[in-house]
Formats: sequence, C-alpha cells, structure tokens
Amino acid sequence: MVEPLIAVLNGPNLNLLGLREPEIYGIQTLDDLESLCAETAERLGIAIDFRQTNGEGELISWVQECRGRAAGIVINPAGYSHTSIALMDALYAVDLPIIEVHLSNIFTRETFRQLSYVSMAARGVISGLGFFGYRVALEAIADIVEQEA
Ligand code: DQA
Repeated sequence: MVEPLIAVLNGPNLNLLGLREPEIYGIQTLDDLESLCAETAERLGIAIDFRQTNGEGELISWVQECRGRAAGIVINPAGYSHTSIALMDALYAVDLPIIEVHLSNIFTRETFRQLSYVSMAARGVISGLGFFGYRVALEAIADIVEQEA
C-alpha cells in the first residue's frame, strides 16, 4: 500500500530556529524539527515532504504543487500568516485538508499576530505547543486523510 504524502511546509525565518529568539522558539534547530516529523511520520505510516523557504512566492508555488500530489498539508506560514492573502487563496485553491501550526502562542503575543489569514483555509490550528505541535498536527492530518479516503 502506498503511504499518503503530507507536505510539511515552513515559512520565513524558520531556518534560523535555535538561533532566533530562543526564549520564544526554543533552542532546537530546523533539522531537529525535520527529524521529529520524520519519526512521527514513520510511526503513523505516512510519508512527508518537509521544506522551508523564506520566499512568499515559493511557498505559494509549493502549495499549488500539492494539488494531485499530496493528501494534506501541515503548514507553519510564519510571518506570512499575518500578511498573505495570496497564500490563503492558494490554500483554498488546492482543496486539501490543512493544519496550521505555530510554535509560539500567537494569541498571547502582539495584536498583529492574532490575525492569521491562513487560519481561514485551515481545518485546525495548533499554536503554542512548540515542536510538539507538529506531532499533533501530523496525527490530526493522518487521521483526517484516513477518515476521508
Ligand atoms: C510563528 C509565529 C509568527 O507570528 C512568526 O512570524 C513566526 C513564527 C510561530 O511558529 O510561532 O515567524 O509562526
């Protein structure tokens, strides 16, 4: 049986995890996060395509590529969550189950972070659980994909 493919897409500045504001984002790196996601995927019997970009256009192109290729998307759009209507439109257009993840709790931070356009296109949002949030997101998307197959 072919394992369903889940795209795990990470937006700008997440390549600096471990260096960037460690009091907010922790000391672990993007590589550590990828390892955690890979272990979780193996346990759940899904395949993942884990990526990070600093570019809005690239992130949108990756979302578009998911159509007909992936069974679902886990996305941390980082700063583009709060600014990008184009990213939200791409997520609507791709017509797949989407889970949005934030490492920090965006609702306890600056007011401009409390609105995420991406949330409008997401089935669910996980915010404030750090790396564990990605595990929860993968569990959720695996369950949704299985239920809706
Ligand atoms: C973030 C929260 C965003 O507000 C911020 O711009 C990020 C990271 C998070 O994972 O907590 O870059 O998405």
